[in-house]
Amino acid sequence: MRSGKTTLIKYAMSGIISKHKQDNLVVKELDATEVLFADSLDKKLFEKNFVDLTVTSPPYNVGIVYNSTGDDGDYEDYLKCTKKWLENVYYWTRHTGRLCLNIPLDKNKGGQKSVGADITTIAQKVGFSYHSTIIWNEQNISKRTAWGSWLSASAPYVIAPVELIVILYKGDWKKNRRGESDITKEEFMAWTNGLWTFNGESKKRIGHPAPFPKQLPLRCIKLFSYVGDTVFDPFLGSGTTVLVADNLGRKGVGVEIDETYYNLSINRIEKNKEANMTSQKELLKEFFKNNSNRDINHPEVVDWAVEEWRKRKGEVFRDPDRGIRSLHQEGFLIKVSKGVYRYDPSLEENIKFGNFTQEQKRIIKERYEYRCAVCGAGEEEGVEIHVDHIKPRERGGKSTLDNGQVLCSTHNNFKKHFKQTETGKRMFIALYKIAKENGDKHLQKFLTEVLGVYEKYNINSQIEWKDDNK
Ligand SMILES: C[S@@+](CC[C@H](N)C(=O)[O-])C[C@H]1O[C@@H](n2cnc3c(N)ncnc32)[C@H](O)[C@@H]1O
Ligand SMILES: [Zn+2]
Repeated sequence: MRSGKTTLIKYAMSGIISKHKQDNLVVKELDATEVLFADSLDKKLFEKNFVDLTVTSPPYNVGIVYNSTGDDGDYEDYLKCTKKWLENVYYWTRHTGRLCLNIPLDKNKGGQKSVGADITTIAQKVGFSYHSTIIWNEQNISKRTAWGSWLSASAPYVIAPVELIVILYKGDWKKNRRGESDITKEEFMAWTNGLWTFNGESKKRIGHPAPFPKQLPLRCIKLFSYVGDTVFDPFLGSGTTVLVADNLGRKGVGVEIDETYYNLSINRIEKNKEANMTSQKELLKEFFKNNSNRDINHPEVVDWAVEEWRKRKGEVFRDPDRGIRSLHQEGFLIKVSKGVYRYDPSLEENIKFGNFTQEQKRIIKERYEYRCAVCGAGEEEGVEIHVDHIKPRERGGKSTLDNGQVLCSTHNNFKKHFKQTETGKRMFIALYKIAKENGDKHLQKFLTEVLGVYEKYNINSQIEWKDDNK
């Protein structure tokens, strides 16, 4: 397993990131995911033709305050900038690759503009073909104050509380290769109706001024891409597109120019991965518990879990092997042979009552090379060895791998009687002091010998005693 979850590495091995960039940028490696802290206007960011589907919501140029990029420049400048990044996305998109462009229908503040129509036109100018437009009914019931001329035909304002998702493509609409689709019949029927109604995402909850809800990339990805495709977002923001792509078994690639949002997206994507891992492990446990004390061949549990996860979550269960390995490492499963695991309920009882499982014992013994931690004697010397809790259970010691050590029978016994000998040692030390004060040489000699035995066997060494005659 990778140590630390946010390893910074030089550009990854994917091959999609251009040579030019590999030397001067860093990217965080997130399994099949790539998130870049970079500028989408930079064409040299990627090699050409790697994107199957772009789902994005560009800066709206409506005065939303982003951390470091201005968003209220001149409208003409905005359109010029739009052309530039659309050219890049076109260049990076494969033949039959698609673009789902979440943009406003229009803009009212600072002069009425047909933003949706203008951007759609530019997209076609740079080479994209137009397919259709989905109207997203955001149900934004925010308080309206801009009525223009109230109750008068003089200059009233009309505002549609919707956004557009313009669907474009490169080359041909029909894909020239077959792939795995994961959309259900119900979803397909509902979503091919181009009026989508679901709520927007809370800015406060996400910590970004303009996040879109997961529903948006989810529907686009399931409708317009195959499992395993590369899904791209050049304006990643809080990371929604890549996070959802991850859940759906696509390879997510995102670019974000603002460092704060870049970090936010990485955090969200990683947290999501962890949460998935936990609930996926619960699902695997469910299978093994329903099939207790039976040797389970890898494909049996994997097939079940993948299908079950799809049924329950509509998502792709990625890397079930990793979950199984992890359950084995935690001591939940016994490895019978390569690719064969077994769940024994009595082992879990053991964990509950604080014992080490067989598997944990095996790992601990291996770590200590099957030798006593105190004297180094092992089975070769004909000595029986035991796995012991370093911090005893009665004092809150847990049955974790790091709280285990190997002891020979002798030292294990010593340790068991630790408590009793401790009181004894304190008593002998106290007696020794008194004997010394009274100048009782005979008693002093006796106690020195007794305490010497403690020392010789290294018993209760945390209680210090010094032989004055040494
Ligand atoms: C409308 S938001 C996208 C929100 C995103 N869909 C989400 O769910 O969080 C646009 C994002 O693009 C970023 N951005 C602006 N200019 C950029 C550029 N040239 N390259 C990359 N990202 C940019 C902004 O910082 C902002 O986070
Ligand atoms: Zn020993």
